[in-house]
This record gives sequence, structure tokens and C-alpha cells, in this order.
Amino acid sequence: MSARGQFITFEGTEGVGKSTQLRNAAMVLREAGVEVIVTREPGGTPMAEAIRELLLAPRTEPVNDITELLLMFAARAQHLHSLILPELTAGRWILCDRFTDATFAYQGGGRGVPAQTIQTLETLVQGHVRPDHVVLLDAPVATGMARARHRGGLDRFEQEALAFFERVRQIYLERAAEMPARYHIVDASRTEEQVSESVSELLKTLVGR
Ligand code: TMP
Repeated sequence: MSARGQFITFEGTEGVGKSTQLRNAAMVLREAGVEVIVTREPGGTPMAEAIRELLLAPRTEPVNDITELLLMFAARAQHLHSLILPELTAGRWILCDRFTDATFAYQGGGRGVPAQTIQTLETLVQGHVRPDHVVLLDAPVATGMARARHRGGLDRFEQEALAFFERVRQIYLERAAEMPARYHIVDASRTEEQVSESVSELLKTLVGR
């Protein structure tokens, strides 16, 4: 049987170029002969994508922080157990646009849910499963927000104030500092080509390991 694949996630605040860099990363890996599945959170399976729609739709009804948190983990349980784990076991690499680090950053940092509450759900849903590597695309919040606003049609998260995203970024950077072996910070304030080059180099290193 093939060796277990690598579980790599891409994180960052809004508008840092995650989708572009994920596509680039998948191409680099495929060129190196690695079988890759590209997926995202919240989402990645039909049911989890339905939960994503519930989560992202702007609404007038105030959304309770715990409702939001539970929906994130409900989508994650479905995604992890029906897609991510079987694919990793079959030897494929998973490139996932966001995972639980986003929950610590957005629900923890942004909304103020205690980290311990998030850890409890992380253990319930994931057991010991964690991403092998987290690529953190980091840029000043204002830079990314300008790009996100330019795209138009802001979702429920994108409608948050700048201070919310400053807290999100802060948690990402704190987690990166706490877990340097797992986190790879990429300066996303540079040009798309420069960022792509850094991401490509990083992935080639991971393939070589
Ligand atoms: P995306 O815009 O990168 O596709 O992500 C969708 C939104 O969901 C984004 O604003 C971040 C948010 N999110 C959380 O708040 N918590 C999470 O755990 C995840 C995975 C995403």
C-alpha cells in the first residue's frame, strides 16, 4: 500500500491570494509526480458545501458565535471523514484552502471564542489529526481587504471591520510562532510571481523529504 499522503493547508486573512497560490501549489506537486486533491473549508463535500452556504450568506439575524463554531466543525467532520482521511490513506496529498487554524483565528481571535472551547471540538472531530504543514500567506490586513473589496459581493465574514481581521492575523502569527515546524510563513504582500516562487520552493522541499 502507498505511504500516507501529506496534509497541507493554506491560511491567511482575506485577499492574500490563497486561491491562486493553491492552484500554483497543485501544479508544482503534479509536475513532481504527486497525486493531489485540492479542497476547501468550510466545504469540500456536497453536505459540507451546503453548510458553507449557510455560514457565508449575509443575514439580518445575528449569528450566535457557538452556532457558527459548531457549523464550522460540522462541515469539518463530514469533510475530514468522508474525503480527507480516505484520500490521505490512499497516498494522495491534500491541499486544503483553510482548516482548523482558521477556526482559532476567526472564531477565536475574531469572535472571541475561548481557545479551549475550540480545542475541545478539535479533539472531538479530529482526534489527533492535524495538518502536516500550514502555509500562512501573510500580508497587512488593509492590503488584502482592498483586494477582497475589489472582487465585490462581500460574504458574511468579509463584511467584518478591519479590527476583526487584525485579531485574525494576530492569532495566525501567534500560532506560527508557537509551531514553527508546522507553519511556513510566506510574505504575501509581494507580487503574485514572487509569492508563487516562494510557495513553489517550499513545496519542492516537502516533496524532497
Ligand atoms: P474563504 O473566503 O477563504 O473561502 O473562506 C470562507 C470564510 O470562512 C473566510 O472568511 C474565513 C471563514 N472561516 C472561518 O471563519 N472559520 C473557519 O474555520 C474556516 C475554515 C473559515
